[in-house]
Amino acid sequence: MELDVQPKVIIHGGAGSSLHGKGGVEAVRRSLYPVIEDVYALLLEGKSACEAVVRGCQMLEDDPLFNAGTGSVLQSDGQIRMSAALMDGIAQRFSGTINVSRVQHPIELALYLQNSPDRVLSDFGAAELLRELQLPSYDPITERRLNEWLQERQENFTKTMAAVVAEVGVGDDADTAVVDTSARRGTIGVVVLDSQGKLASGTSTGGKGFERIGRVSDSAMPAGNYATAHAAVSCTGIGEDIIDECLAARIVVRVTDGMSLLDAMQRSFTEASDRQRDLGAIALDASGAIAWGKTSDVILAAFHNGDRIGDTLELPVGTQVGCI
Ligand code: GLY
Repeated sequence: MELDVQPKVIIHGGAGSSLHGKGGVEAVRRSLYPVIEDVYALLLEGKSACEAVVRGCQMLEDDPLFNAGTGSVLQSDGQIRMSAALMDGIAQRFSGTINVSRVQHPIELALYLQNSPDRVLSDFGAAELLRELQLPSYDPITERRLNEWLQERQENFTKTMAAVVAEVGVGDDADTAVVDTSARRGTIGVVVLDSQGKLASGTSTGGKGFERIGRVSDSAMPAGNYATAHAAVSCTGIGEDIIDECLAARIVVRVTDGMSLLDAMQRSFTEASDRQRDLGAIALDASGAIAWGKTSDVILAAFHNGDRIGDTLELPVGTQVGCI
């Protein structure tokens, strides 16, 4: 098929503490690379940016390693409530769902809501929409997440967030990698430039874990997921920090106003680092530049630039920005 534009894709499975060695890195790679391959194949077939983003988000939501869909963390009351957003850059249209339960792929609700007059639905409304769409009831809980919550209950919820995302890592061999109980923040995200030169971004999360009922994540806000015709961004990290920086919109607006993607990322991450934020982001621009940034130890991102797959799993700890 003749392509107008070389497609690009970057995905993430969260940001947080170090992966503790080769075992953790390899396990995360084994999760991220098949998603990159699938999404890139769809783009080569001519699928739209939104279709490719949704497919990538569904695959990451299905992977219990990540804190979204299956494997989402539990909130303080022992329930799972998930949030997701999709933004079509060309239409500059945001849709999302906040604190939805009992669904396999929260991103599917965001996709449906792209063409609805009411484009962001929360708990009761989202449950009603699930019923209307006749999506089967699905319990995303995993034994690991339940055990983390039970452990925290014993300790009277002294942690402010769950040990989430890439919880592999202790041990040198990917097959023997075990749960790392150090705090990690997580979410999944997919950002795509399709063969028509159109951008889209999607983000999905189980939230921070152990949070108060009704806490709203950045992932279903323009702070955490935003796109125009010029740039698209998905964020991960502590939602409150991402909201305070309005990070996704900040980067995208800078690029839309004429700054290069690299400059927009460098400036935004310098500001976030100066304010001791704990976060990360992945980004694409309409020219095909691919970027990532983090203030946390690691950002679990992988990309396809048309020639090869690469990742950010072994970057030095601390604030880093990269662009290719
Ligand atoms: N970034 C995900 C959350 O804090 O909810």
